[in-house]
Amino acid sequence: MSFITRRKPIEFGAPAEGGRHLKPTLGWPHLMALGVGAIIGTGIYTLTGVAAGLAGPAVILSFAVAGAVCACAALCYAEMASLTPQAGSAYTYSYVTLGEGLAWIIGWSLILEYTLVCSAVSVGWSGYASGLIRQAGWGVPDALLAGGIVDLPAIFIALVVTGVLLMGTRESANVNFILVCVKLVALAAFVALTLPAFDASRFEPFAPFGFGAHEVDGTKFGVMGAAAIIFFAFYGFDAISTAAEEAKNPKRDLTIGIVGSMALCTIIYMVVAAVALGAVPFGVFSKSPEPLAFVLKELGRPTAAALIAGAAVVAMPTVIMVFMFGQSRVFFAMARDGLLPRQLSAVSARGVPTIVTILTGVIAAAISGFMPLSEIASLANAGTLAAFIATACAVMVLRRRSPDLPRPFKTPLVWVIGPAAVLGCLYLFTSLSAKTIIFFFVWNAIGVVAYLAYGRAKSRLAAA
Ligand code: ALA
Repeated sequence: MSFITRRKPIEFGAPAEGGRHLKPTLGWPHLMALGVGAIIGTGIYTLTGVAAGLAGPAVILSFAVAGAVCACAALCYAEMASLTPQAGSAYTYSYVTLGEGLAWIIGWSLILEYTLVCSAVSVGWSGYASGLIRQAGWGVPDALLAGGIVDLPAIFIALVVTGVLLMGTRESANVNFILVCVKLVALAAFVALTLPAFDASRFEPFAPFGFGAHEVDGTKFGVMGAAAIIFFAFYGFDAISTAAEEAKNPKRDLTIGIVGSMALCTIIYMVVAAVALGAVPFGVFSKSPEPLAFVLKELGRPTAAALIAGAAVVAMPTVIMVFMFGQSRVFFAMARDGLLPRQLSAVSARGVPTIVTILTGVIAAAISGFMPLSEIASLANAGTLAAFIATACAVMVLRRRSPDLPRPFKTPLVWVIGPAAVLGCLYLFTSLSAKTIIFFFVWNAIGVVAYLAYGRAKSRLAAA
C-alpha cells in the first residue's frame, strides 16, 4: 500500500497508544454544552448583520441552507464519532477510511479552521469589549482596541482561554456549562423583547440581491453568498467529536451531544434572525458590529442592549474554548500518529496536552491581533467545509467497505444525506470569495510540502 493510501485500523473504545490517554470525564450534558458553546457565538452575535447586508431579509433562507447542510454533515459526524471514539475528529475519520494522504490534508485544514475560529471569535469578542472599554472612559488609545493597529483585547481573551484550558478538561467543561446558560438566556431575552415590534412588511422586498452568489469588489452577495458566510454560525458540533476519547459513554453520549446541539442551535438562529429582521429594517442593523444590541437600541431599550452586549462579552469565550480544545486534540491525534512531532502529544498530570494547547493559544492570539474578522471567518469556513466533505465521504466509503461494522448510530438515508452533505458543502465552498479559495489552496500546498518532508517518513504506519 502506498504511503498516501495507507490506513489506520479502526479501534473501538480502546484508542490509547503508547500509554497516552486522555481521561474519560465527560457525560452527554457536558458534550452538548460543549456543542452549544461552540456553535452559538460570533456567527449569531456579529455575522448576522453582515449576512443580512449580503442577502436582505432572504438571509432567513441563507440560515436555512447553511443549517440544512450542517444538519446533513452532523448526522455523518454522529455515525463516525460513535463508530470510532478516538480523538481527532474528521482527521481520524479520514485516516481510517480514506488513507493517510487525505487524512493529512484534512488535519491540516482542521488546524486552519480551529485556529482561525479562535482568532475570529476573539476579534468578535473584542468588538463588544472595546465598545465597553470606550464607554467606561479608561483612556485606552483606539490604536490598541478593535479596528486599531493591534487588537489587544482579542489577544488578551485568546490567552485567557488558553490559561483556563491548561487547568484541565473537567474544570473547563464546567466553566463552559455556566457560560452556555448565559448565552441562551440572553438570546431568549432578545427574542422576547424584540417580538412585539415584529412587522411582516419588513420582509419586502425579500431577496433584493438575488439568490445565486455573485461577486462585487471581492464580496459575494445573494442568498448563497450570505449562506457561505453565515455557515460560520452553525459549526462547532464537530468539535465535540474531537473530545470522543474523553466521553464517559461515547457511543450514546456523542450522538446526543452532536445531533442535539445542532438541532437546538438551528431553531434558535432561525427565530433570532426572523425577529431581528421583523423589528428593524435590515439595512439599518447590517452595518453594526453588534447587530443584536443595535436592534434593541433602535427599539428604545438601551439597558437591554447593554445587557445583551455584556452577555456576549461574558459568554462568547466559550466558542474559543471549545475550538481551542478541539484544536489541541487534533494536534494530539496527529502527533500521536507520528505525522507531527511526538513531543507535541505529551499530556500533563491533569490530562491536558500542554505544549499544543499553549502553541494553539499563542498563534490564535497573534492572528486575532492583526487580521480583519470577515477574512478570518471565511477562511475558517473553507477549512471546515473540507472537513465536512471528508467526513461525509468517510461514512459512505465505510458503509460500502465494511457494511457489518457495529454502528451504534447510523446516519438515516445515508445515500441521500451523505451526497447532500458533500454537494451542499462543495456549493458553499464555491460561494466563498476567490481570495479565500486561493488562500485555502496555498495553505494546503504548504501542508503537502510539510507532509512530504516530515510525516510521510515519521508516520507510525511507516514504522509498522
Ligand atoms: N459557530 C461559531 C460561532 O458562531 C463558530 O462563533
